[in-house]
Parts: sequence; C-alpha cells; structure tokens
Amino acid sequence: MILSSSRLRSRFLGVELENPFILSAGPSTDELDITRAGLDAGWAGVILKTTSLPTTDVDLVYPMMSSFNNGDDILGMGNIDLISIYHLEEIVKRISILKSEYPGKMIAASIMSDSREGWQTLVRALKDADVDLIECSFSCPQGNVGEDPGKMLAQSVSATEKVAGWVKEAAEELPVLIKITPQVTDIVAIAGAILKSKCDGITASNSIPALMGIDIDSLTPIPQVDGYSTYSGLSGGAIKPITLRTIAEISRNFTDATISGNGGISNWRDSVEVLAVGASNIQICTAVMLHGFGIIEDLTSGLDNYLIEKGFNSVTELVGKALPKLVSHEQLPRHQVRSAVIKEKCIGCGRCYISCRDGGHIAIKWDSVNRLPDIDEEKCVGCGLCLLVQPVDGCLSLKRVD
Ligand SMILES: Cc1cc2nc3c(=O)[nH]c(=O)nc-3n(C[C@H](O)[C@H](O)[C@H](O)COP(=O)(O)O)c2cc1C
Repeated sequence: MILSSSRLRSRFLGVELENPFILSAGPSTDELDITRAGLDAGWAGVILKTTSLPTTDVDLVYPMMSSFNNGDDILGMGNIDLISIYHLEEIVKRISILKSEYPGKMIAASIMSDSREGWQTLVRALKDADVDLIECSFSCPQGNVGEDPGKMLAQSVSATEKVAGWVKEAAEELPVLIKITPQVTDIVAIAGAILKSKCDGITASNSIPALMGIDIDSLTPIPQVDGYSTYSGLSGGAIKPITLRTIAEISRNFTDATISGNGGISNWRDSVEVLAVGASNIQICTAVMLHGFGIIEDLTSGLDNYLIEKGFNSVTELVGKALPKLVSHEQLPRHQVRSAVIKEKCIGCGRCYISCRDGGHIAIKWDSVNRLPDIDEEKCVGCGLCLLVQPVDGCLSLKRVD
C-alpha cells in the first residue's frame, strides 16, 4: 500500500502535500471524528465544510440526497445540502485541534458570507487559528448569501473580483482559493477576475445546479421533501467531463493559474486526467461518500504506479501535460478515416448496422445470411459511432485512408 512516495509529494501554495488527494468541503469534513478518520486513512489534507458567521441561518431540509443511475451504478449524485451548521467559533477550535494532531497534513477552511465585513471577519479569525489555506465558496448550488441572494457569486465577473478582493485584502499572505461554478457563460472571464483580485488559486469546480429527475408516478421532482422538491447540486462521475473542460479552459488561457481540481473524480485514472489538463492537486467528495475513505489506497497506488510506468519523477511533471494537444476545432487535422470490421471478432449482433442506419450515414450493409456488417467505403465518413456501440472490444476499427 502506497499512501505517499517522493513522486506523489508536492507543494501547493506553500503547503506541503504528502500526496495530491484532499477531502473537499462536504459531509466527510463536517464532523471532527469523521475528518480525523479521513486524515488517518491517508488523505493529504482536508477542507472543512463551509463555515459562516452565527448570523447566517443554515436551515437544512431532509432528505437531501438523490442520484441518477444506470442500473445499480450511480452516475451522478444530487444534494440539496447547504453549508455547515457549525459556525466560525467551532471551526476555529477544530482548526487548532487538527493542526496540532496532524502537523504534516493540510488543514484548510471554507467560508461563505454576505458582506465585506463578514468575509473579512471569517478570514481574520481563521488566520489567527493558523489555518493553512482558505477556500471561498462562490458557488453553492443553492446560491450564495449577500450580493445577489440565490445566485452564485462566481456567476458574476464583477462580484467575483470584488468579493475575492475583500478576502485577499484580509488574508494578506495566507493563500486563498476561490471555488467556482462551471455554470457560466465565460469561465475565462471569471478566472481572470480571480487572478485580478490577487487571490492565489482556483478550485474548479463545485457541484452543478441540476434537476435530478421526476418521479413519474406522482409527477414530483426528486428529491421529495413532503411532496415538493428543488434543484440539487449534481456531483460525482457525471460531471467529470465538465470539470476537465473548465480546468483546461482556465489553464490554456492563464498558464500561471494555480488550480485545485474538483468535480467527478472517482479513481486514480480520473485524477491523472484532471492533473493532465492543469490541476495541481485533486479534491474529492462524492466518491468518498459512496465508497469510503479507503479509496485513498487505490488513488495513491494507482497514481504512483502510473507515474513510474510513464517515467514521471513527480506528480507536478504531469500537470498540464495534455494541454498542448488540445486545440480549437478549426485547428484539428483534416484526415480521412473509415471504419473497418474485424471479422474474427464480430459476434453478429448488428448494433453497428442499426446505429449507422438510423443515426449515422447508412454506410454499413447487413449480410443477414452470415450475420456480418459490411462497410460501404463510399458512404462511410469515419464518424466513429459504430465504435461507440461495439459490444466486443476491437470488433471494429478506424483506419486512415488518405
Ligand atoms: C452533500 C454535499 C455537501 C457539500 N457541501 C459543500 C460545502 O459546504 N461547501 C463547498 O464548498 N462544497 C460543498 N460540496 C461540494 C463538494 O465539495 C464538491 O465540490 C462537489 O461535490 C464536486 O466534487 P465531487 O464530484 O468529488 O463530489 C458538497 C457536496 C456534497 C455532495
């Protein structure tokens, strides 16, 4: 079992991390004993669930969790949770306890407020408690308090720059991360506002407002709270492609931006992808809620083995490595490709034929006697749909024809 190795170690905004995996603000960091268990299991750090001043009313409703599934697999999780019920004084106490019990771990706090004075009061108290880093939730799916209640702060460029500036003014040299939402028109403008505010980094990104589903018997949206519902924050595997795009877009436009990757990361392979588009480390919430703290063993061993296999001496060498190959659509090479059936592997299911007939280019003929697809090279454009539906790995391939 590898929880740390010289390859996995890094420095993030001045804080030493024994591995790149951090527990993000959520249920797993909302109770002291649960947080301790996470750190004991080998997580490199924690961001305690978002705290606020006692004047902020945190009015929770239950049940708060839902999901959308493919059979037994949870593809995405939804929650209508709010920030922590524990206010500043309690969190300050916990920071001191965790800092003394876990000197080698990153102990960070997350905050949300509704005024300059509120944000700065939170920052100053946490700074006095010697917190390693502050993350600001500008992206609670139920909306931030203050500026434009019900909306997310990070949906407004001007509000983001203004409030991030207030926080950094109070934090001074203490590192500040701004946690953003990908649900914006222009993520680059939001990232630019954060960098302008002189905050130190960006957490990309939070769960995403979504409607998790409708119970078609009662025609009530889910989750149901006494027959009513509201929008949830969608998290887990379903949002990983959005996370990748968000981080990639920020990294490509701001090469010096420091990004903490978050949203839909469930295993070490996901973490490689998120690091490769520009995140310096990985925050996880949902995968821990679904599978427990023990996933840290797979995350660290898997990532370490990958680094060895690919010849990386350090996790930091992997950061952004996929970006040079990410270009705009018009910059993509224009090659001709065609599908080819690998007859020895074909099981005669006809799925490629049906998809091409009804959703492609009618470029697959069906030999019903031998139950074999036959590619019409004149009609095939090489769209790749048949490869998506192939039930057997390698029964179809794409070949270059120019
Ligand atoms: C039940 C629940 C509660 C959460 N509470 C907070 C919170 O208080 N503050 C915050 O910044 N993010 C909160 N989050 C968001 C997570 O920290 C994380 O950004 C999001 O779930 C995406 O990551 P994931 O796919 O790994 O879960 C919460 C997520 C869940 C599922």
